[in-house]
Order: sequence, then C-alpha cells, then structure tokens
Amino acid sequence: MDVNRRAWESAGEKYVREYDEITAVADNGSSLLALERELLRDVLAAAPEVIHWQSGNATDDVALVRAGARSVIGLDFSETAIRVAEQRALELGVPCRYVRTSLPGAPLADASADLVYTGKGGLIWMPDLGEWARDIARLLRPGGHLFVYDEHPAAPLWSWDSDEPRIRPDRDYFAAGHVNDSFPAGGAVQVQHTLGAIVTAVSRAGLRIVDLTEYAEPFWRMGGVTAAAWNGRLPNAYSLLARLDGDAGA
Ligand SMILES: C[S@@+](CC[C@H](N)C(=O)[O-])C[C@H]1O[C@@H](n2cnc3c(N)ncnc32)[C@H](O)[C@@H]1O
Repeated sequence: MDVNRRAWESAGEKYVREYDEITAVADNGSSLLALERELLRDVLAAAPEVIHWQSGNATDDVALVRAGARSVIGLDFSETAIRVAEQRALELGVPCRYVRTSLPGAPLADASADLVYTGKGGLIWMPDLGEWARDIARLLRPGGHLFVYDEHPAAPLWSWDSDEPRIRPDRDYFAAGHVNDSFPAGGAVQVQHTLGAIVTAVSRAGLRIVDLTEYAEPFWRMGGVTAAAWNGRLPNAYSLLARLDGDAGA
C-alpha cells in the first residue's frame, strides 16, 4: 500500500502539469463515454448523489454533474489528486467535494449515495474484492447503483506489439498481481482479479447485476503505443452495473 501510494503521489504531478487540458476535458464532459451515458441514463435522470471511488484526476466528476448528478464526493488516497480536483471544482463552480482516504474504509455514512462510480484503472489497486464490494454496498441507499467501467481482467495478458497481438510470457490470467509497467509505474504493484471473482464479490455483497458488457476498445491508450491487441478482436475493457435492491423501484 505504501509503495503504491508513493507511486500515485508522484504520478499525480501529471494532473498538476496538465491542469488546463484536463479541466477543459472535464468542462466539456467528453471524458464520460457514450457507453457510460447510455448505461447510466436512468440513474443520472434521477439526479443522484454520487460517490466517485478512487476519483484520481476527477475529470468524470464534472461530466457526471453536467449529465445530471446532484453532487459528487470523490475519494482517493493521493493528496495531489485531491488538491487538484478541489481546485477544479471551485474554479468550475460544480457541487463536487473531495476526501483523502485509503480505500476500502470510506469515512462516509452508510446509505449516503445513489450511485458509486468507479473504474478507469481503479479495481487493480483493490487487493480484497470482498472488502471493496461490501464497503460500496454499505454506502448505497436501497435502489442505489454501483457502476464500474475498467480494464478487462484479461487485458494485462496482451502484448503491445503493433504487428499482431501476443500473449505476454510473463503474465498469467490467474496470477495474484504484477508490477505495473505503464502508469503510475514507480514500483506500484497492481492486483489481478478474474471476471468471475469480480462478479461473485459484487453479488455476495448483496448487489444484483443489471448489466455486464465486455469491450474491444481499451478504457485508456498509453500515449505513443499502437497495439494490435486493440484492433477489435480481444477484450480490453468491461462495464458492470449492479443495483442494491430493497425499494419499490425497478
Ligand atoms: C487510474 S487512477 C483513477 C481512476 C479515476 N477513475 C480516474 O479516471 O482518474 C487510480 C486512483 O486510485 C487511487 N488509489 C489507488 N489505491 C488506492 C487506495 N487503496 N485507496 C484510495 N485511493 C487509491 C490512486 O491515487 C489513483 O488516483
């Protein structure tokens, strides 16, 4: 955890250096993808109170507000990320606030959110899926949703060769994790979860899976890389929408 926090603290300087570009993207809402808008259409139409779990550069928080969210609370253990996100929210006048905290263990009340939004490189930093899912379920009001859009668990296996995709000889779908070699690097150790383990953790926490979709397009492309593995034949990302049932709604 300490190695990872240091790696993220240092990588977060990118958010400071690129403040103006990231703010422009946040402001025009383009970070919230069409697939996210589609899956979250009904949830956002109800003006939800949102928690962004591992809010990182927080670009999506402004987009979520512009798309209908009443408010967003971003949670992240990086002081740099939190500071930059707070500055942007103030500058743009959006109802987003930020809490620096290690997760799981969100310092927020039970049943305080209608939507917990997470992903885009989030889940690979959560070693205990059971704790992750239970803490998220605790934060949701009955009828609330968890939305994840993240790297597909098989994606770390694909090489970034430009001629054709290959399976990396140093990777194993069932491994516990590996040392990150892209972003944030810095010795950070990312965990691996199978798709089955993710779905099972969400389900055991009491949430009902509403939608699970796999995508060929990665959620993020490393700058300067043109990988054949991103050409449409392999899974690179997934989204998961789950609901905490318990009210009279659909
Ligand atoms: C890829 S980034 C953020 C994803 C975010 N959705 C975004 O689009 O920027 C992952 C974030 O997780 C945070 N993080 C990693 N492990 C964490 C932990 N145990 N507790 C809280 N935050 C953590 C990092 O500081 C980093 O900002």
